[in-house]
Amino acid sequence: MLSMKVVDIERFGGSDVLKMDELPLPTPKEHEVLVKVHAAGVNPVDYKIRAGHYPAVKEDALPYVLGRDAAGDVIAVGPEVTKFRIGEYVFGMPGIRRGAYAEYVLLKENEAAHVPAELDYISAAAVPLAALTAWQGLFRHGRLRAGQSVLIHGGSGGVGHFAIQFAKARGAQVITTVAAEHTEFARKLGADRIIDYKARRFEDEVENLDMVFDLIGDETQDRSFGCIKRGGVLVSTLNEPSQERAAERGIRACRYTVEESGEDLSEIGRLIDAGLVKPHISRVFSFDQAPEAQDFLEKTHPEGKVVLAVDAMEMETPVTSIP
Ligand SMILES: NC(=O)c1ccc[n+]([C@@H]2O[C@H](COP(=O)([O-])OP(=O)(O)OC[C@H]3O[C@@H](n4cnc5c(N)ncnc54)[C@H](OP(=O)(O)O)[C@@H]3O)[C@@H](O)[C@H]2O)c1
Repeated sequence: MLSMKVVDIERFGGSDVLKMDELPLPTPKEHEVLVKVHAAGVNPVDYKIRAGHYPAVKEDALPYVLGRDAAGDVIAVGPEVTKFRIGEYVFGMPGIRRGAYAEYVLLKENEAAHVPAELDYISAAAVPLAALTAWQGLFRHGRLRAGQSVLIHGGSGGVGHFAIQFAKARGAQVITTVAAEHTEFARKLGADRIIDYKARRFEDEVENLDMVFDLIGDETQDRSFGCIKRGGVLVSTLNEPSQERAAERGIRACRYTVEESGEDLSEIGRLIDAGLVKPHISRVFSFDQAPEAQDFLEKTHPEGKVVLAVDAMEMETPVTSIP
């Protein structure tokens, strides 16, 4: 039986529970494609799942293969697939039970898109989950339009660095909170106004906003209500916002979970092709360094994204960065 290497966990814990394993090569059914993974993105959800802190992955899902971002080549297609052919270069966010820290992964046809011509495998793997989260948060849940104002909390991270670029590309006015050392990065991403969240209280500096995009939660979310105008919106990737407070202030408030979407990824790809958006990668780790990659993301809060070069050849790819 053909097999593949994966990085999985058999129990929840620190990065030392991640281990290299061997699993049978899956066969694509119906609307699935089998992708030879060249690179896989690393996201906070990966270390949250690994630690047992993510409600959708409980003990009964173990052993569990990590990874929600894949970029690679289609090597086999299911009988119902119409959108992709063998040999094509794709990226996508696999459903939560199909990990991308693996030499091969199954993607459903509607979870994947063709990779923009501009992107190599490493840069492509940096896109799916973080960019989809930013896209769906700003435009599907926030309904952000040209000319509106948005405060993006956590603009220096994976989701935030896409959110700043998407909001600017849409013609919005963008304010972002980052730590002092990320000010220059946020400026290069196009933010109109940058607030050092450790030195200043953002609620003393901004008011009457159309939207707050909360990538931090808790106290940051609580303090954000007062910055939003009547009719505005608070969208969070973390805590469920208080509906009582939202009603008192005449705003809409929601928490959402990112959804797999090849359609949204194609739209994002068009912005990348047009040169309006670029993934920024802080560091690439080799496949056997998955524990180091997760620790690096969790403990150092790098700018933009961290990627695993699943295919060793990809370690040679120069890291893409915001100029
Ligand atoms: N609901 C969903 O579907 C969904 C999807 C994607 C992500 N998420 C969650 O959303 C959060 C952001 O994701 P991500 O991928 O962007 O994470 P990330 O890459 O770790 O970025 C988070 C950034 O926030 C900064 N930060 C920390 N405290 C801050 C504060 N008080 N104000 C402003 N910035 C602050 C951090 O840098 P410094 O500490 O250096 O400032 C870091 O750069 C994570 O908790 C993630 O799990 C949820």
